[in-house]
Amino acid sequence: MSPKVFILLCLQTAIQASSRIEDEDDDEIGVNKTWVLAPKSQEADATHILNSLLSGYDNKLRPDIGIKPIVIDVDIYVNSIGPVSVIQMEYTIDIFFAQTWYDRRLRFNSTLKVLTLNSNMVGRIWIPDTIFRNSKRADSHWITTPNQLLRIWNDGKILYTLRLTIEAECQLYLQNFPMDEQSCPLTFSSYGYPRDEITYRWRQYSIEVAHQRSWRLYQFDFVRLRNTTELLKTTAGDYTLMIVYFDLSRRMGYFAIQTYIPCILTVVLSWVSFWIKRDSTPARTTLGVVYSGCGTLLHHHHHEQPGTVARTRGRAA
Ligand SMILES: *[C@@H]1O[C@H](CO)[C@@H](O)[C@H](O)[C@H]1NC(C)=O
Ligand SMILES: *[C@@H]1O[C@H](CO)[C@@H](O)[C@H](O)[C@H]1NC(C)=O
Repeated sequence: MSPKVFILLCLQTAIQASSRIEDEDDDEIGVNKTWVLAPKSQEADATHILNSLLSGYDNKLRPDIGIKPIVIDVDIYVNSIGPVSVIQMEYTIDIFFAQTWYDRRLRFNSTLKVLTLNSNMVGRIWIPDTIFRNSKRADSHWITTPNQLLRIWNDGKILYTLRLTIEAECQLYLQNFPMDEQSCPLTFSSYGYPRDEITYRWRQYSIEVAHQRSWRLYQFDFVRLRNTTELLKTTAGDYTLMIVYFDLSRRMGYFAIQTYIPCILTVVLSWVSFWIKRDSTPARTTLGVVYSGCGTLLHHHHHEQPGTVARTRGRAA
């Protein structure tokens, strides 16, 4: 192949490739012209709004400081509960935890009604310092990005949600075992702001529960949930304490199969020894001691000549 022809071929393929790219570009612009252009102006708008909101914003100060307490509405979506650890007296719970409040400093005038933001914005504005008081370990989820969401409405309403897996303490009362019902709480409050600074509020249907297919409660059935608000008096002030109780009842079927049926069978088998003649002591003792081998022993005994054991014993004596 002469160099000329080679160059020509190269050129041709290059031209073909570039025309193909042009075709694709044409297609994309043709189809998506409207939405390619629209977000750009909105994006500029959103950037402008955010920048103007954050200029002069002090994220160390809570909204309405010195004016009135801030009310935080709480919503909980329960992904799954379980397993319950009886030995550690704790249970695992996986939730989406949503808090809603009003920050009047973050109101804006725009055609945009709401700014939907991700975790990058979370550190830039004031966020309630909610803690789970009875958690032993807690994990927020970080894959692929922190599982957090932040929305700012133009009237200053803020929604902040995050996904958490909590191992929480649950005192189990086992007096009525195995017919016991347990009530496992999830308790949260503000860490630093007492009641006259932050109050929490349940709304109707504040707590929702996912389908229980993926739950790992094993020994327990989920019965119901209850919510209450309590007051926690400490030397640092009075705190609003929010509690959700997850009521669980022990699944009798689990214990019937795992424990009771085997036990009853063993006991019934041990009664077999009462039917054996009184003088065949070795057989009876063996039966009494080795319950589990009952079936085989019984079988053996039936094939033995009556009185064989007594006779051997007599000879020994
Ligand atoms: C929004 O617009 C109203 C009236 O047009 C004005 O009074 C208000 O100050 C504006 N708010 C902000 C945050 O710019
Ligand atoms: C939680 O409590 C509030 C107020 O007491 C009530 O309106 C709401 O229905 C309760 N939610 C659940 C899921 O029980």
